[in-house]
Amino acid sequence: MEPVIERKMKSTEFEFPVTELIEHRRSRRAYSPKAVEPEKIKSLFEAARWAPSSVNEQPWFYLYATSEQSELWNKIFETLTPSNKIWAREAPLLVVAMYRKNFVRNDRPNGSAKFDLGAANAFLSLEATNLGLNVHQMGGFEKQRVIELLNIPETHEPVVILAIGYLGDMESLPENLREREVAPRERYTQDFFVLNKTF
Ligand SMILES: Cc1cc2nc3c(=O)[nH]c(=O)nc-3n(C[C@H](O)[C@H](O)[C@H](O)COP(=O)(O)O)c2cc1C
Repeated sequence: MEPVIERKMKSTEFEFPVTELIEHRRSRRAYSPKAVEPEKIKSLFEAARWAPSSVNEQPWFYLYATSEQSELWNKIFETLTPSNKIWAREAPLLVVAMYRKNFVRNDRPNGSAKFDLGAANAFLSLEATNLGLNVHQMGGFEKQRVIELLNIPETHEPVVILAIGYLGDMESLPENLREREVAPRERYTQDFFVLNKTF
């Protein structure tokens, strides 16, 4: 049998129509210093609030800091990997996205919690696009450090840090990052991940 890797196909085009928010969402790295309005911050978390979750547990939990809250913002920022720090330092809003490990109702482990957090982050990201904001999720951070600095209890698990803000000037980025900003995005075509028969 042909190795799977040989069959994989990629494309930079949207091959079928989707809602504009999905088409326009993109994880950018150039941020404007303009603050995110408090009501827009509320709308972002409202979008996350209405995501679906297993047995409606809603296991997501967000801790955010605006750059005006410099002490808190810095505690989040300093846990980022050096490559993320290069561009995330301009983001006016940083959000630690975590999940509650156990169900509220019986304190048993919730195997869907991380999955549900992903859905909530996706809702938040699309609402951000709707509000003219950019969200860039980062798995590149020191988990233990963020737990210590923010006193995150054992009941919660941080997964990603989100850099959020209005788009800034791409010229402010180092050249290698600028190139990535303008490069077309690539995705596997559907025949790589959609099946309408048995394996
Ligand atoms: C869970 C997760 C972790 C990510 N971690 C990083 C990261 O540490 N640094 C980074 O620059 N981008 C990170 N990204 C962004 C991805 O690289 C980006 O979503 C992907 O390249 C697709 O690009 P797009 O979001 O613009 O469509 C992460 C995205 C996700 C969902």
